[in-house]
Amino acid sequence: MKQWVSALSAGAIAIMVLFAPGGIAFASEGIATKDQNQVLNIAHRGASGYAPENTMAAFEKSVEMKADMFELDVQMSKDGELVVIHDTTVDRTTDGTGSVKDLTLEELKSLDAGSWFDESFTSETIPTLGEVLDEYRGRTGILIELKSPSLYPGIEQKVADELKARHLDNPENEKIIVQSFNHESVQTFHDLLPQVPVGVLLGYSPEGISDEQLDRFKAYADYVNPSKSMIDALLVERIHDYNMKTHPWTVRDRESANFLLEAGADGIITDYPDYVAPHPSK
Ligand code: G3P
Ligand code: CA
Repeated sequence: MKQWVSALSAGAIAIMVLFAPGGIAFASEGIATKDQNQVLNIAHRGASGYAPENTMAAFEKSVEMKADMFELDVQMSKDGELVVIHDTTVDRTTDGTGSVKDLTLEELKSLDAGSWFDESFTSETIPTLGEVLDEYRGRTGILIELKSPSLYPGIEQKVADELKARHLDNPENEKIIVQSFNHESVQTFHDLLPQVPVGVLLGYSPEGISDEQLDRFKAYADYVNPSKSMIDALLVERIHDYNMKTHPWTVRDRESANFLLEAGADGIITDYPDYVAPHPSK
């Protein structure tokens, strides 16, 4: 009887929590987690598990797979144009060679940015940031990483100008976030466009993230986005205590996606958006 009563109350509590406003749910293992539908599904460099990273094909795939946002990496050409590519050279992801900063936009645009991934993507080229914003603003969220900004003095102003030109400097209804591993660059961008949410990226560190760091970040950042290997429920709670959110990276297996959901992450940056369930509204 006692057993039955406690089973009944556990069931009642589970039902109450499951349908409570705020959408907190119990995972099958019995651990309290955020409702999966509240977690942002962010396609890393587009849906880069299925199409060549940082190309229109990968961004299109991300939308098709109903991700909430895609992430991209922005750098600058020799002639000062903002281009979307991850590495500081074109060697790995195109049929060319050389540093992004030493090639003009025309030279960068002449490269094949898809064949390295699969022959069916031969027609893909390196997009400009402007092309991506024009094509996808309002259709999906965009997480812009300022990649290696110390190589490109003034890149923060150029990104701010691209957003302002499209009235995305106060993106109330359109989800735009800017992030970087270079925290000075994040602060510079924040000073230029304070209404655009910004995030600090952090690589793995065995020391973890200190309260002093969180205190510094909260002065300008909205997101603390560490390597997924840093995340546990306690770190998520501490980030929340400092009134920031967290979008850890980069998920390439379902187990990691489930782990981050259970830890309470606010978003998951993944090469495989199908590992994180889409919003029911989509
Ligand atoms: O968005 C986080 C992630 O993109 C950071 O690492 O090397 O893929 O740019 P990386
Ligand atoms: Ca990136």
